[in-house]
Amino acid sequence: MQKNQFSQCERVLVNLRMATLDPAVDAPYGQLDNHILGLCRGRIAVLVPRQEADLSSFDGEIVDGQGGLLTPGLIDSHTHLVYGGHRAREFEQRLLGKSYEEIARAGGGILATVNATRGLSQEQLVVEARPRLEALLDEGVTTVEIKSGYGLTMADELKILRAARALVAEYPVRISTTLLAAHCVPPEFRTEPDRYVEMICQELLPQVAEEKLADAVDVFCEKIAFTLPQSERIFAAARQAGLGIKVHAEQLSLSGGAALAAGFGAWSADHLECLDEAGVLALQAAGTVATLLPGAFYFLRETRKPPVELLRRHGVPMALASDLNPGTSPLASLRLMLNMGCTLFGLTPEEALAAVTRNAARALGQGDALGSLSVGKQADLLLWDIDHPAQLAGEFGSLRPRLRIVRGEVAHAPCG
Ligand code: NIG
Ligand code: FE
Repeated sequence: MQKNQFSQCERVLVNLRMATLDPAVDAPYGQLDNHILGLCRGRIAVLVPRQEADLSSFDGEIVDGQGGLLTPGLIDSHTHLVYGGHRAREFEQRLLGKSYEEIARAGGGILATVNATRGLSQEQLVVEARPRLEALLDEGVTTVEIKSGYGLTMADELKILRAARALVAEYPVRISTTLLAAHCVPPEFRTEPDRYVEMICQELLPQVAEEKLADAVDVFCEKIAFTLPQSERIFAAARQAGLGIKVHAEQLSLSGGAALAAGFGAWSADHLECLDEAGVLALQAAGTVATLLPGAFYFLRETRKPPVELLRRHGVPMALASDLNPGTSPLASLRLMLNMGCTLFGLTPEEALAAVTRNAARALGQGDALGSLSVGKQADLLLWDIDHPAQLAGEFGSLRPRLRIVRGEVAHAPCG
């Protein structure tokens, strides 16, 4: 037994079971029983078996887990939750027979939300975003990625990113922001999309990097959005600015966007329903995470599923995210995605849980800091009154974490 092993810790968690999601722990879900966790300055500093722990001289806070199950905080690594308006009318139109692409080509879709978003101030956008963020936090999300992409002018894209950054001051959450100016060609550049790409690369992206408003850059690489050469120019500019790279690719067709982004060392390639084996191999070679978005698949009533078996066979890490947005996934629940990842895409509950913790952290370039209960990682933790970790994927609607710790501090209900 080591004396004073907790001397630096402010807080110690006892009497709990853990699903660490740490691959170094040789058990399903990285489960550990009879262990004690010590938190120091927002990090996990000590993780030892109960019988090796000496708490006799510890004078910090002892949190009694009462036999609950501790997991890493959940990470929603792909959302568009800062926007104005809604698109329920399009939902109706699609049920009456129109396709997502038809509606987009007729000026609806993303551009409808762009109009609504341009009409709101930064403060109004924050007001609109709060309930969506609160819904995610309430069910155990501790890190959220938020993309721009409904502004499509310099001023409006900056406004969205600032609104996203402002939310972090209000809630116990980490927010990662992504510049998605290449979401749709704006009406002002309809006949000259290359000039819009140039504006992104020459003006917007350097400004965003200078103000540190985004952690990454994303491109919607698709027939109705941006071509491969246009995407390539934006990735090159992102790399030059030292920002992470993400891509919306192979959602509606096979464009090669995922392989292109992987060639730039992308953190993640997202959607991927139409990905082929060459694309899977490109992700594997680059260590790029495949982020699956079952909410959009479900909401658009798609039938083509991402190639989960190929991704699994080639060892590509899979993440699951909500894609929370007004057009294709107005579903503010990462827990629902855990369930749908299993029921619609065939992930196992263990893969699904890794997909919203360890692999989601990698999809945000945070694989070393977040996503598992391991010494040295940030202390974002959830305590659940459940018997088995598979309940987190298998049950929906009733479970809430009993305790949430973010940055080592207890976050009080409902959202802080
Ligand atoms: O991730 N695929 C592109 N972007 C969003 C949809 C945005 C919208 O329809 O408003 C998505 O599905
Ligand atoms: Fe998206």
